[in-house]
Amino acid sequence: MQDYCCDPSHEHNVVTSGGKHAVALIDANPAHQKEVSDALLSFYEVDNYQSADDALTGLKASIPALILVGKKLASGGGVEFIYMVRHEPAFADIPIIYIVEQDDSKSAVSIAKAHAAGANDHLIKPYRRSMLINTISGQLNSQVERNWEILPQVQQEALKGTVSVFNGIADVISSGHPLPFGEVRNACAPLVEAINNHDFKGILNGVRDHDNYTYAHSMRVATLLSLFGHAAGLKGEDQMVLASGGLLHDVGKMLIPHHVLNKPGRLNEDELAIMKSHVPETVKYLQACADIPKAVLTIAEQHHEKLDGSGYPYGLKGAQLNELARMAAIVDIFSALTDRRVYKPPMEAEKALTIMTDEMSAHIDQHFLKMFKAMLLDAVG
Ligand SMILES: [Fe+2]
Ligand SMILES: [Fe+2]
Repeated sequence: MQDYCCDPSHEHNVVTSGGKHAVALIDANPAHQKEVSDALLSFYEVDNYQSADDALTGLKASIPALILVGKKLASGGGVEFIYMVRHEPAFADIPIIYIVEQDDSKSAVSIAKAHAAGANDHLIKPYRRSMLINTISGQLNSQVERNWEILPQVQQEALKGTVSVFNGIADVISSGHPLPFGEVRNACAPLVEAINNHDFKGILNGVRDHDNYTYAHSMRVATLLSLFGHAAGLKGEDQMVLASGGLLHDVGKMLIPHHVLNKPGRLNEDELAIMKSHVPETVKYLQACADIPKAVLTIAEQHHEKLDGSGYPYGLKGAQLNELARMAAIVDIFSALTDRRVYKPPMEAEKALTIMTDEMSAHIDQHFLKMFKAMLLDAVG
């Protein structure tokens, strides 16, 4: 098997769009539809409709994750459409963003009516592409996070605490401003408690559709790594280190440009170098955080190393690989394969384990892999 950077799918020239959230755009203006479709191309699947009737039929056939509604539709207006959609039980919870032509008093009235009819947010033209993407992503995440409210208390605390830490890091990482490790530790405490009570499936399900890929991946790694530690007999601080190490292992990815991070298929040499830089970037950031346990740094530093020395960044071999990092590498590869990405749907767990056993035997600690499989069968299966 050739070298890979993070997601082993990046080794293959397989291009799919199965992992994207679907966004419906209802708008009378074909030029605006094209503009939005082009802007969202690499993030979301866009279904375009010009009339309210076509849209209602289409939405019933294929329910989107979010609806964008223009002020003018081919038949009727956007506000009436939002009102209709909100009265269909199947669409009651879908986030709706209303889009108006310009910032004037008429639009202000129209925006107020749209919110009263059930819109969650609005955009005023002309808006920047980043504004469109951030507004959609924010609404999708709010929707996912609202669903956490029905989970048991400890699982809610684990999800809310970790997403808040993650958002905090996203805000400061480019400035290098360090995060006190105590905050990460506090956020991971409910996660470890949920694992030890065998009450954690809601956490894994709760991040499945989160639109912040790096958060969703890191939280899955933190959960499975902490669970792995529990199965291996680790307790207390050791387990806490695994949970925190899992949550923080890829924070440097927040500095990787979207077109590289989410590229379908094989990365070229330059892109691979950029992607691999997430390891030194993560280590640099974590080293600046006061009180960070050495094992958390080691997990971040070594999670892409391979037993045969073909990993990165150091090409460590055999006994040079730390045991916690060996465990982290297994969980990281398993999570990357089974994550939903914009360019691929999630792979079945069984298929991922087969690939790891058959094609990665020179890279992965087989003793730990056997333990990991048994643990998954026992705890998740
Ligand atoms: Fe990584
Ligand atoms: Fe990772």
